[in-house]
Amino acid sequence: MDVKLVEYDTVFLEASYKWLNDREIKELTMTPDISREGQKKWFDGLKERDDYLVKGVTADGFPVGVVGLKHIDFERKSAEYFGYIGEKEYWGKGIGYKMMQCIEMEARGMNLSHIYLRVLNTNQIALKLYKKNEFVLRSYDGQLIIMDKIL
Ligand SMILES: CC(C)(COP(=O)(O)OP(=O)(O)OC[C@H]1O[C@@H](n2cnc3c(N)ncnc32)[C@H](O)[C@@H]1OP(=O)(O)O)[C@@H](O)C(=O)NCCC(=O)NCCS
Repeated sequence: MDVKLVEYDTVFLEASYKWLNDREIKELTMTPDISREGQKKWFDGLKERDDYLVKGVTADGFPVGVVGLKHIDFERKSAEYFGYIGEKEYWGKGIGYKMMQCIEMEARGMNLSHIYLRVLNTNQIALKLYKKNEFVLRSYDGQLIIMDKIL
């Protein structure tokens, strides 16, 4: 499957509203309630921000998910990874692995050297993916696991 990171445009904005309102995805990604207004405000503010990178993910040209870095800190050279595939029939096909590799390349290009992420201890697919990508356990607080990786 041909996986690409593309511009996060209004097509992805609309799709991610649907994806993040799906109960399972909302829970797995630990997303708070979102409104269209709040989402639009966030989207309009993106151009002004250098602490946030968000990309759409396509598989064979079809929009399937979102990936990015937040809390980008150029002094500390660190950022938090986030990502999800919103179209569930595309889970477990290796897209998660590819999109992580792509965003890591972007992070290296931005001269970042430390990436961390948050994941629920019940999210087996994500945990497997992150271990495969050589993230290591940093801390564990109840349900929430923090992992990180030196690039
Ligand atoms: C987490 C997510 C990004 C992973 O992407 P993916 O494309 O589905 O995962 P991959 O196909 O790259 O597989 C990653 C690993 O999980 C394994 N895996 C796939 N489906 C699985 C399943 N149902 N149960 C357990 N492991 C599974 C794969 O075998 C692979 O490990 P391997 O290479 O050792 O075989 C994606 O499933 C997703 O978006 N899930 C919902 C939202 C979410 O959880 N986001 C992350 C929040 S922290």
